[in-house]
Amino acid sequence: MKRVIFATNNAHKLSEVQALLGDAFELVTLKECGIVEDITETASTLEGNALQKARYVYEKCGADCFADDTGLEVEALGGEPGVHSARYATDGHDFAANNKLLLKNLEGQSNRKARFRTVIALILDGKEYLFEGIVEGAIAQNESGCEGFGYDPLFVPSGEITTFAQMSAEKKNSISHRGRAVAKLVNFLKDGKL
Ligand code: IMP
Repeated sequence: MKRVIFATNNAHKLSEVQALLGDAFELVTLKECGIVEDITETASTLEGNALQKARYVYEKCGADCFADDTGLEVEALGGEPGVHSARYATDGHDFAANNKLLLKNLEGQSNRKARFRTVIALILDGKEYLFEGIVEGAIAQNESGCEGFGYDPLFVPSGEITTFAQMSAEKKNSISHRGRAVAKLVNFLKDGKL
């Protein structure tokens, strides 16, 4: 089984991605390779942040690794919160405060179009690769559901009538931004094709 380090401390994401990878790959956590510090994310794009995290891990561990960065891009807000999605309302990862602020900033706004975009940066045998996954959708008027994390209670994917937070993990993974980016990563890892 191939071992790959996934540069995240988010247990939700780890289990989502492990489920998508199946048995072919064993995900190694940051803790397992001795990285306990927060990895800096100071780039102004999702691509930049994903590469910054992957390069940090590669320099420390010298092993194959990947990192992701995700943003919720809301059309009426000019693409915000985007790269600032984690720290939209506060400088911590306060999901409830972020959702509240998003609803406030969209008050009276009829254009609710939004998309989640994930970028994965992979470093394999010292070479860098980027994979992108997008899911289009809309921001609901109120929060619904308690599955998932982050903006899930507000995001209704196109073609669906419920939020991500009202879906099973399997259903979300099958259509999500991260699911799509990870599918590209997995195809590449399995076939070597971009
Ligand atoms: P990260 O780059 O994956 O850590 O994502 C940054 C922020 O985007 C998170 O703190 C969440 O607020 C939000 N986010 C990322 N992925 C998801 C998701 O699948 N559902 C809902 N919110 C997400």
